[in-house]
Amino acid sequence: MVRFDRIGLRYSQAGGRYGPEVLHDLNFALPDGVFRWLLGPSGAGKTSVLRLMYLDVRPTRGRLDLLGTDVASARRGALPRLRRRIGVVFQDFRLLPHLSTFDNVALPLRLAGRPEGQIRADVTEMLGWVGLGRKLGTRPLALAGGEQQRVAIARAVIARPSLLLADEPTGNLDDTQAERLMGLFKELNRLGTTVVVATHNQTLVARHKAPALRLENGRLIGHE
Ligand SMILES: Nc1ncnc2c1ncn2[C@@H]1O[C@H](COP(=O)(O)OP(=O)(O)O)[C@@H](O)[C@H]1O
Ligand SMILES: [Mg+2]
Repeated sequence: MVRFDRIGLRYSQAGGRYGPEVLHDLNFALPDGVFRWLLGPSGAGKTSVLRLMYLDVRPTRGRLDLLGTDVASARRGALPRLRRRIGVVFQDFRLLPHLSTFDNVALPLRLAGRPEGQIRADVTEMLGWVGLGRKLGTRPLALAGGEQQRVAIARAVIARPSLLLADEPTGNLDDTQAERLMGLFKELNRLGTTVVVATHNQTLVARHKAPALRLENGRLIGHE
């Protein structure tokens, strides 16, 4: 369960002051195992909502519950574990440039302490599935944009997160790749992962009917 209860967000600025509120009074709950689009024009607050959901920023007011944990009152030590149950596809990928494709995707499994033999099998299979079976040893900067995006997607889903968040994940993908990606997200969702996808891709949204959180100017204007 993810629950936003009258959440407001301001970003802190240089000098320790807070800027204007960019999210206002967000109220919604996502039961475990749902799929939600996160929609709204540029600047509406989609990335900010996702950042709250992966503990990158804290709400400046309201109460946020993530996977059964009240984030504000949780012990600091509990947050990294919680964070490891959340997979994120960043809009700008955030791959580690000094690591190979294989090692980037293996990272969440290594952090989770999985045995190296299982890691080898899982990562190889996943990278084959996203069409990067021949790029295991390549570093991110030697990959095309769409390839980097697929590495980022593989890394986000490899450890079967409880919550998967994706910020404009099809931005650099062609139509076929975007459809494959949706297939992967839906499969994970079928297996129990809660999935939230922020997108501008109207074709994708029209093709894959699912309830949406709609934002405008930092407010939730629809949640069906
Ligand atoms: N790090 C930041 N510091 C200050 N303001 C920010 C920051 N990130 C986003 N904003 C502001 O918050 C609002 C929502 O932005 P964002 O969440 O990125 O929207 P979206 O992803 O829907 O385009 C915008 O007005 C944006 O300028
Ligand atoms: Mg954004």
